[in-house]
Amino acid sequence: MSFVKRIGVFTSGGDAPGMNAAIRAVVRAGIYYKLEVIGVKRGYEGMIDGDAELMNLRSVSNIIQKGGTILKTARSKQFMTPEGREKAAKFLKNQNIDGLLAIGGNGTLTGLLELRKHWNGKMIGLPGTIDNDLYGTDYTIGYHTAVQTAIEAIDKIRDTADAHDRIFMVEVMGRHAGFIALDSGIGGGAEKILLPEIDTEVNKCVTNFLEGKEKGKTSSIFIVAEGNSLGGAREVATKVFEASGCDCKEVVIGHIQRGGSPVIGDRVLAGKLGVFAVEEMMEGKDNSMAGEINNQCVLTPIDNAVNWKKQIDPYKLKVASILAT
Ligand code: F6P
Repeated sequence: MSFVKRIGVFTSGGDAPGMNAAIRAVVRAGIYYKLEVIGVKRGYEGMIDGDAELMNLRSVSNIIQKGGTILKTARSKQFMTPEGREKAAKFLKNQNIDGLLAIGGNGTLTGLLELRKHWNGKMIGLPGTIDNDLYGTDYTIGYHTAVQTAIEAIDKIRDTADAHDRIFMVEVMGRHAGFIALDSGIGGGAEKILLPEIDTEVNKCVTNFLEGKEKGKTSSIFIVAEGNSLGGAREVATKVFEASGCDCKEVVIGHIQRGGSPVIGDRVLAGKLGVFAVEEMMEGKDNSMAGEINNQCVLTPIDNAVNWKKQIDPYKLKVASILAT
């Protein structure tokens, strides 16, 4: 006995490596449990436009290793309006979809809360974002690949920084969260990490650089989270130059962090959460995000997942500062 018979799956918002692995897991688990699975294209935009197809086992062959999303994604402006949301709900009703699995980040899951006002089927979100900023899961699908990409870039920058005795400001993504910055800073051996969660003073950046010089450092790498209070890499480089005359190079890693083949952590997480979300929905669970905490799959109310703030680990801050000396 299952609470759902025909489920929809879609990806929305910024793509993240591992979204395809998550689609595959939902489709294969759904079919394994004898459900019909509809793939909705281009997120909420495709739901409004009625752009969808019945998935089968082969629709998701050979995608586990691919970045991007075979269902495409969008940041839908139409869905921001009540009319758009009503159209999306109408599509779900016309399609006889009784359960919806959304793979995406904060905006995507907030969209489910809005859709709830127009549609009564079961809804479970899967955390698919490089930002790792969702409460209710230790990591989000895509995060580990993005950090890996960032540290590979930092390693290369370190070579040229060392060769020229230069300071580099390296900007990483993460929107308002500093998870990518902190982990890529520790993993990349950064001299300083500028997070959105902690206000940054230019003078402290300059002092940090000068103290490093006194200790014999000839080059420095600062990781700048894009949401940092001083601005991105360019702004920080300019402010440090104005305050000290130190010439800094700036690098924005940018959307490269969103692409590429997902690393094993993202693939396994996507697989576990996809199967878990389908099983929980069949049992009647609703209005939740599937996540993994301490290696166990758990559900968190969507409202908490998007509105409760996931904290940066203070011990990692200490580790970063000890290792940067
Ligand atoms: O949420 C994922 C993310 O890559 C953020 O890190 C970044 O701030 C944002 O999306 C960029 O969005 P877009 O690709 O729409 O400019």
